[in-house]
Amino acid sequence: MGNVIEIRHLTKYYGRFFRQKKVPAVSDLTLDIPEGTVFGFLGPNGAGKTTTIRLLMDLIKPTDGEALVLGYPPDNIEIKRQIGFLPDAPAFSSYLSANEFLNICAKLLGIPSTTRKSRIAEVLEIVKMTKHAKSKLGGFSRGMVQRIGIAQAILNRPKLLILDEPLVGLDPHGRQELKEIILNQKADGTNVFFCSHILSDVEKICDHLGILADGRLLCTGTLEELLSGTGTRLHINPGHDEIAKMLLSDANETIKLSNGAWELTFSNQQEDGKRLAEIKKQYGEAVMLTRVRENLEDFFFRKIAEATQSKNVNQSGLNPDDVQREA
Ligand SMILES: Nc1ncnc2c1ncn2[C@@H]1O[C@H](COP(=O)(O)OP(=O)(O)O)[C@@H](O)[C@H]1O
Ligand SMILES: [Mg+2]
Repeated sequence: MGNVIEIRHLTKYYGRFFRQKKVPAVSDLTLDIPEGTVFGFLGPNGAGKTTTIRLLMDLIKPTDGEALVLGYPPDNIEIKRQIGFLPDAPAFSSYLSANEFLNICAKLLGIPSTTRKSRIAEVLEIVKMTKHAKSKLGGFSRGMVQRIGIAQAILNRPKLLILDEPLVGLDPHGRQELKEIILNQKADGTNVFFCSHILSDVEKICDHLGILADGRLLCTGTLEELLSGTGTRLHINPGHDEIAKMLLSDANETIKLSNGAWELTFSNQQEDGKRLAEIKKQYGEAVMLTRVRENLEDFFFRKIAEATQSKNVNQSGLNPDDVQREA
């Protein structure tokens, strides 16, 4: 399986010569995005997500490094035919109706006149905007504009959808529907790369994740890889306090439930693992071992904290409040 996006040492300084800005918006970014994924690019406000997307879309040029999108360099015209793009805060001409706007987009994409009309009807159906087809974009709510934005992005049945903060500014119902639209695109075989500063969106939609802060990639991998295996939990059935007592001093967290059962949590050290396996062998049914899955929020803030610590002083100006936990 190939990669839909390959990024090597990508670096972008804005206004370097005029303002002598010393901090790059994107710094030595190297990242592969495998085919068949919904990739969530997560980071606080100002992390460099939009800059990365602009570089991939050839809207700005890198200071250094390079990228391949569907195997092509960003300035290759072929990419435009094969991807769909939703910019952050899209603004469309308010005097056009949804139909007229999509018709222009379809023409620009080179969709033949014989299929244009039916394809537009199809995408309006997908984003649940059929009944607004003839309404002017100027009268649309933020959520409706976002849907039309998705509609234009999927018109040409793209191999890759690049979405910049697709769920920002939507109410909970609108977010839910847009998430479903994105997941349906994935089910239809479209690769999705989207960025967000909202943790819950990423956790629910994507299967791969990259965390960006201060222009640097902190980690990347599958959600499963990144969040699994931070520890082990031992559940001890009621009536076996002797097992709990043996382990209490070594556990990270101990909880005695009202029914007399125990929940002991151990961090991910190998000796713990071995010891717990022995306990399981010895006590069989009386105990149960499970892996502890870290939630994305804990993982995210741990990564940001580690990055800040490793810089020793917090020069980053990173503010955890710039990241929304739940919208
Ligand atoms: N056109 C620009 N000129 C100068 N600085 C910019 C420009 N666009 C973004 N920046 C800066 O680059 C950094 C990254 O911004 P951006 O890519 O928009 O982050 P994100 O999308 O993750 O919120 C920020 O410090 C921002 O202020
Ligand atoms: Mg942005």
